[in-house]
Amino acid sequence: MLSDRYGRQISYMRISVTPYCNMNCYYCMPKNVCSGKKNESEILKDDEILKLVKAAVCLGIKRIKLTGGEPLLRKGICQLIEGIKKLDDEMMVTITTNGYMLYDMAEELSEAGVDTVNVSLDTVNRERYQAITGVDCLDKVKAGIKKAREKGLRIKLNAVLPEGRESMCHEEIMDKASEIISEDTDVLTEVIEYANSVGADVRFIERMPMNVTGTDNITVGEEAASKTDYIGRLIALYNLKSVEKSSIDNGPAEYYRSDILGVRVGFIGPLSNDFCRECNKVRVTYDGRLKTCLFYEDGVNLRESGFDKDRLTGMISDAVESVKHAGHHFTEEARNKYREEKNIKRDMRPMGCIGG
Ligand code: 5AD
Ligand code: SF4
Repeated sequence: MLSDRYGRQISYMRISVTPYCNMNCYYCMPKNVCSGKKNESEILKDDEILKLVKAAVCLGIKRIKLTGGEPLLRKGICQLIEGIKKLDDEMMVTITTNGYMLYDMAEELSEAGVDTVNVSLDTVNRERYQAITGVDCLDKVKAGIKKAREKGLRIKLNAVLPEGRESMCHEEIMDKASEIISEDTDVLTEVIEYANSVGADVRFIERMPMNVTGTDNITVGEEAASKTDYIGRLIALYNLKSVEKSSIDNGPAEYYRSDILGVRVGFIGPLSNDFCRECNKVRVTYDGRLKTCLFYEDGVNLRESGFDKDRLTGMISDAVESVKHAGHHFTEEARNKYREEKNIKRDMRPMGCIGG
């Protein structure tokens, strides 16, 4: 098993399969940022991704998350999933999608053997959804989730915590913003009730202050919403009890169960938790760079391996052993904790370009 100099075992790889998205979430890919056509030859090809995953399997990584942009926009995504699944009997492939194309692709995804579909759904209020994503398609996404459940797919919902910035990038509904962003805890309970009704676990995520607008600087972490703003009230409302992670979980979420709910409620706290201490992942950008932490600019260009298995395993293990940082620097606290990190160069690209 691959481990780094801080003793963390790396068992999980996130691969961005496209830089494109058909939504414009304010915290990820607001309009006019990170948009525009990329040089297509930079995007990893299926055979390159398969070679990369084969090398990862040699290093003991058998959990792959396909992300983007929006991964369902990639042609042949289901064949790619099938191909990855075939590389190892224990292989677990999950995908993170905005759900826009889920209705049309649920059956094919299920046949391809995807293990979990993570759907980004920050709210079940139609106007608020449009304020966040820039697209008026909540019903379409919900229909996709329903169909996916009918096809037997496991769904987990991802909801970025509300913090009143949802409309800043979508001028067309700016005037409605103040109504839309009131009553934030209710937004969470509505999402929980919906998740429960469709049999999907839900995880609330603290927004990481990526350089979305091109103006975020290193000290903006403090203004993002913290799970501690909400968690107490939710625990009381649903009588939530903390539970251990299960074998289907890859990431850093802490989960709760309730007698009132059939599903789990989770929190992912990149800002308020010591989330980095348990980091088990590496990421690969759509253009083939291995990143050992999303915060830092440094990355290893895996193309230089020529996709040769031995060179790939060497490059990945070297990066994990000598480059992987102890933690991010989004907050003052993290900066103090991970003070040993020298020569910090922050990745100034928005999340959608790095791989959400
Ligand atoms: N902070 C936290 N989560 C984010 N996502 C995208 N950008 C951010 C951010 N800045 C989430 C999306 C999606 C997943 C791919 O990442 O909500 O669920
Ligand atoms: Fe697209 Fe997901 Fe980013 Fe929203 S969070 S813009 S849906 S990649």
